[in-house]
Amino acid sequence: MADKKKSDPTASRYLPTMTQDYSRISDTARAVESIVLPKIISYIRGIAPRIAHMHSEKPFMMADYGADDGVNSSELFEKIITQIRAVNPSLKIKLLYVDIADRAGFDKFWETSRLAQMEGVDAEYIRRSFYEPFPEIAGKLDIGFSSTSLHWLDTKTVKAGFFQHPFCIQANQLAGKERRKFVEKWRGDWRVFFRECSVELVDGGALFLANLTDLGHDCWPASAGYNNIRNVCSELYQEGRISKEELNAIFVPDYFATPQEMKSLLNENDIKQALSLKSSEEMTVPCAYFTKWQDKLDDAQERSLLAATLAHVVRAWSSSSVGIGLAPGNKGQIEEIYSRLKDKFYETPVGLPYQYCLLELVKRGKSTE
Ligand SMILES: C[S@@+](CC[C@H](N)C(=O)[O-])C[C@H]1O[C@@H](n2cnc3c(N)ncnc32)[C@H](O)[C@@H]1O
Repeated sequence: MADKKKSDPTASRYLPTMTQDYSRISDTARAVESIVLPKIISYIRGIAPRIAHMHSEKPFMMADYGADDGVNSSELFEKIITQIRAVNPSLKIKLLYVDIADRAGFDKFWETSRLAQMEGVDAEYIRRSFYEPFPEIAGKLDIGFSSTSLHWLDTKTVKAGFFQHPFCIQANQLAGKERRKFVEKWRGDWRVFFRECSVELVDGGALFLANLTDLGHDCWPASAGYNNIRNVCSELYQEGRISKEELNAIFVPDYFATPQEMKSLLNENDIKQALSLKSSEEMTVPCAYFTKWQDKLDDAQERSLLAATLAHVVRAWSSSSVGIGLAPGNKGQIEEIYSRLKDKFYETPVGLPYQYCLLELVKRGKSTE
């Protein structure tokens, strides 16, 4: 059992980074690109006259909010640049990578990136929350992009202890009043995000956001993983290996809003006056691992490999938050939690499909009225 006296486990802040797990383009990122790229190409065709007349000294600016190391958006960005350069071959391009993670991952990626080798393409990594203002790019951003990031809530605006529950570990596991608290938090955070984006964008500038979503019927990203962790933590509590306070404090500070919640928010007057919703599309990316392994589940070694892979994926998403919930003297339980998670996936192999709601918004302004 953890030493309760040592410290209050809710006192530390959640910092949902997962840089160590990113360094190659994921199948999920490719699936997102297949839907987002045609939309961006069609948008660029629509603004081709503006691009053609842009002065080559004023760069075309694109931002990736929650970029991690930048790898997953790199092929998409290359293709967008090719489209822009087809209209204005000498136009300079500025890429902004925004994340709260340490910049080391980005530096490593950029060192050998094909984007870095493209003429007239510059990049900047800004280590800052996407919920904060970016005055340095006010009125300068042409395209904002984000994938698989905006479900993370802003942990800085609430007191330590906001993210907690006696036995659940994530807001989508909750119902009714208990869930409402997190829905309101998400709503407030996204209002801030869209307010800041509308300051950053040029008139007619666009946002392309691939957001993880809850499609109902318990279809929300990695739900099997989160539900297993909740059950593992309850077991550890019953066995006296983690305290009641730790069980309460183990909580992942994200929320997968439903597409209806997203659209209802974007229909609020303040947002609607600044940004117009052009499209909203739902899609499910099947679990890459489960599909590959599903015919080999009778083979114990293969089954074990699948279980380890699934547990590894869920660990990348959740371990920093789970670790914060554990008391300083009891951090060793992290290994036990993910080892038991692997056992649960071995007992009941199940895929982790990712549900997305893809939003395209354009900033209203003189050139778009
Ligand atoms: C699942 S990763 C997605 C990375 C990449 N966009 C992709 O598609 O693979 C989520 C990223 O969001 C970042 N993140 C979480 N909250 C953030 C915040 N408030 N501001 C900026 N980045 C944040 C994390 O550090 C992490 O790199």
